Amino acid sequence: MKKVLIAGATGYLGQYIVKEFKKQGFWVRSLSRNAAKLENLSEYIDEKFIGEVTNTNSILGICKDIDIVFSSIGITKQRDDLTYMDVDYQGNKNLLEEAKKEGISKFIYVSVFNTEKMKNLKGIQAKVRFTKELKESGFNYSIVYPNGFFSDMLDYLQMAKKGRGYVFGSGNYRINPIHGKDLAEVCVNAVSEEEKGINVGGPDILTHNEIVAIAFESLNKKIKISRIPIWLKNFILMTLRLLTSVKTYGPIEFFMTVLTIEMVAPTYGKYHLRDFFFYKINERNKNE
Ligand SMILES: NC(=O)c1ccc[n+]([C@@H]2O[C@H](COP(=O)([O-])OP(=O)(O)OC[C@H]3O[C@@H](n4cnc5c(N)ncnc54)[C@H](OP(=O)(O)O)[C@@H]3O)[C@@H](O)[C@H]2O)c1
Repeated sequence: MKKVLIAGATGYLGQYIVKEFKKQGFWVRSLSRNAAKLENLSEYIDEKFIGEVTNTNSILGICKDIDIVFSSIGITKQRDDLTYMDVDYQGNKNLLEEAKKEGISKFIYVSVFNTEKMKNLKGIQAKVRFTKELKESGFNYSIVYPNGFFSDMLDYLQMAKKGRGYVFGSGNYRINPIHGKDLAEVCVNAVSEEEKGINVGGPDILTHNEIVAIAFESLNKKIKISRIPIWLKNFILMTLRLLTSVKTYGPIEFFMTVLTIEMVAPTYGKYHLRDFFFYKINERNKNE
């Protein structure tokens, strides 16, 4: 039985990755800094390793007897006092150094789609720097470059609940967001994939106007959209860059950039955003 180490298991994508590796017959070791966060995944995990990628001493021996290392470690919404370079670059590099001590057969890493178009962003720079190290490591590797996740599209549902959706510019930039479950299949299939770089998005290519419309329709509400001029976005980002640190402006800058460029990746998967919104609304109704 092949053994996998999953770093990032506590995240949105990580939970689906854990289930998919188990479903495909792997022995699973998870890395997390907080065991409690993995309680609901216990049935899919054979061994829980407690450590923090940014602290090299805490992850010593983590790759022992492991065949595949998978990492979706990265800052999405800043919670700690650490930078992208600390986590996305150095944290993953620390993991790579541990892998080098063992005879692993493959390293699979999750980056972001369209890094070339966003190379001026701090978060992307850290990811690109790590992928360079991975490419030069001599390991067999796959780097998955996914489009936006369904989890991030929930912001549109929140706007619709509040009664107004906001888009940048004309709202006609397109994106094909992907469900974590579909993306997990792509990532786990990468174990036997020859392709080194895998670009992937969900099955539906949608403009941001269309996503707002789907959110309102899911709630049975009349669509109301406001358009924010691109110059205002640029002004907000410039001001944030001047007045705040990367920990504050980094995630905002990333999301605002994704919303204002074409983000159309090769399509994959069977989960549709409309169904996901319906599911989320019903889930909430059941819990209320
Ligand atoms: N969300 C998107 O739309 C999107 C799109 C494309 C690519 N991506 C990339 O895909 C990856 C996974 O995304 P996701 O949505 O699953 O992210 P997520 O839910 O925020 O999970 C990120 C993972 O990284 C870990 N992590 C973050 N900061 C850490 C730190 N200081 N020390 C140790 N671990 C840390 C988290 O652990 P804790 O639970 O302990 O914090 C978690 O396991 C990220 O690199 C992201 O940039 C995301």
